[in-house]
Amino acid sequence: MKAMILGASGLLGKVLMREWQGDEVVGLSSRDVDIRDASGVRQLVERTRPEWIVLAAAYTNVDDCESDPDLAFAVNRDGPVNVAQAARQSGTKLVFLSSDYVFDGKKTSPYETGDARNPQSVYGRSKAEAEVRLLEVLPGCCIARTSWLFGAGGKCFPDTILKLAATRPALDVVDDQRGSPTYTVDLARAIIALCRSAARGIVHVTNAGDCSWFEFAREIVKGAGLATEVRPVSSQQMARPAPRPAYSVLSPKSLQHYGIAMPTWQNALQRYLRQRKS
Ligand SMILES: NC(=O)c1ccc[n+]([C@@H]2O[C@H](COP(=O)([O-])OP(=O)(O)OC[C@H]3O[C@@H](n4cnc5c(N)ncnc54)[C@H](OP(=O)(O)O)[C@@H]3O)[C@@H](O)[C@H]2O)c1
Repeated sequence: MKAMILGASGLLGKVLMREWQGDEVVGLSSRDVDIRDASGVRQLVERTRPEWIVLAAAYTNVDDCESDPDLAFAVNRDGPVNVAQAARQSGTKLVFLSSDYVFDGKKTSPYETGDARNPQSVYGRSKAEAEVRLLEVLPGCCIARTSWLFGAGGKCFPDTILKLAATRPALDVVDDQRGSPTYTVDLARAIIALCRSAARGIVHVTNAGDCSWFEFAREIVKGAGLATEVRPVSSQQMARPAPRPAYSVLSPKSLQHYGIAMPTWQNALQRYLRQRKS
C-alpha cells in the first residue's frame, strides 16, 4: 500500500509517519503543499498516486479561528474539499481527521456517529461543514473524529500542565468540560488499522473513558510525582474566545465495528509520561 499523509509535521502527523511501517508512506507539510491550492493538490495526488490519503492538515488553534474565520474555513473546509476532489479523480481513498467540536456538548451520554452536528465555535463549524461537503464529494471517505490530543512533538495539555506545575504551588483547571483525552500514538495506530480495513463513513476514535480537564490535570500531576495542588474552576472563570462543548465524549461503537479497541486515557497518559522522561 502507498499512503500520503497531509499534515505530516503536526502533532498527529509526526506520529503517523513513525508508526506506519511496512508500506510506502509520503509525508507532507504546508511547505510542500497548501491544501487551499486546488490545482497544486490535484497535481500532487496525480503524481504520487497513493492508495490512501490521511488528511491531518488543519488550522487547529481553536481560539484564533474565532478571530480569523476566513482562514479557518479556507483551511479546514475548502482545503479538505480540494483534497477529496483530487482523491475522487484519481481513485484514492481518504481518511479525514475531524473533531468532537462538531457537537454542541448538550448530551450527557456518549455521542454516536449519527447524532446531529451543532458546532458552537468557528473551528467546530469549519470541521462540521467539511464533513458534510466531503460526504457529498467522496461518499466512500472515512471521517475519523477525535478529541483532546496529546503526545510528543508539539504543544499539548500535559506539557502545559507540567510546565506550570514546576513553578506554581497550585493550578486552576476547568472542571465543567468533559471529553476523552487521546494519545497520538494510539490514534495513529487506529488510523492505520482503519486504512488496512478499508474503513468508510464516520468513525469515532479516542482513548477509552472520559474526564474533565481538571481530572486530567490531576492525573498528570500525580503521574509525574509532583505535589502541586490542582483546583477545579468553571469555564466562566477561565473565559476563552471560543466556546467549548461541555460534554463531548465520543462513543466507541463505530470503532469496535472494525475490531479496534483503544486503551484507557489513564493508560495512555502513563505511557506518554514514561516516554517523556526517557
Ligand atoms: N489537537 C487536537 O486536540 C485535536 C482534536 C480533535 C481533532 N483534531 C484534528 O486532528 C488533526 C491533526 O491535529 P494536530 O493537532 O496534529 O494538528 P497540528 O499539530 O496543528 O498540525 C497541523 C498540520 O497541518 C498542516 N497545515 C496547516 N495549514 C495547512 C495548509 N494550508 N496546507 C497544508 N498543510 C497545512 C501543518 O503544516 P505546517 O507544520 O507546515 O504548518 C501541520 O502539519 C486535525 O485535523 C485536527 O483538526 C485535533
